[in-house]
Amino acid sequence: MITQDEKKKRAAEVAVNYIKDGMVVGLGTGSTVMYLLEAIARQGLKISGVTTSKKTSKICASLGIKVNDIDNVDHIDVTIDGADEVDVYMNGIKGGGAALLMEKIVAKNSKRNIWIVDDTKVHDILGTFPLPVEVVPYGSGRLLKKFNDKGLKPILRMDKNKLPIVTDGGHYIIDLHLNAIDNPQNLAEYLERQVGVVEHGLFLDVADVIIIGGDKNIIKER
Ligand code: 5RP
Repeated sequence: MITQDEKKKRAAEVAVNYIKDGMVVGLGTGSTVMYLLEAIARQGLKISGVTTSKKTSKICASLGIKVNDIDNVDHIDVTIDGADEVDVYMNGIKGGGAALLMEKIVAKNSKRNIWIVDDTKVHDILGTFPLPVEVVPYGSGRLLKKFNDKGLKPILRMDKNKLPIVTDGGHYIIDLHLNAIDNPQNLAEYLERQVGVVEHGLFLDVADVIIIGGDKNIIKER
């Protein structure tokens, strides 16, 4: 039996084959993407990366991967990112690494989106992984109460010093501990209507390809 990390690495090693020299590549955030960045550097691929977090930018700098600002490229050929959970419809939950806002901006501006996950993250329906919602700090207490009254089981994400974690965009994260999301589209629309919500971690109809690392790798295409 291979470890979860080995599965992540396998998915990343498959994904690197989708990248060619000269491409503008959106680079996600997280431990699975870390394996992808290592593979890009190892193969000496000459890409222009568009990063989705300060963390990813820092890793790119240390590996010598060229990075460009999203507003200085005229297109993004492909974005490769991880996910926290994916369902059978190729929808997903992202934001476990608190980078969902920039990840969604980069994804929505990409010609193609590829996700790399290990097979423990695949579920029939979404919701096992708590759904991250990025919110403006001002009034976040009101949103917590509102979500709680609606039965969404919200918890403000804290760091090890018991302070709210602050995203690269200067926002807080509220995680909704739902266990099962019966209608992701409805929930996404509800969250988008709430003032103070900046973005949510439901990525619906975003992934074109999902590479699932496991004993045997699986590639799903929309
Ligand atoms: C960050 C994300 C990541 O893609 C997600 O958390 C997966 O991370 P990992 O590859 O470390 O399991 O959405 O906001």
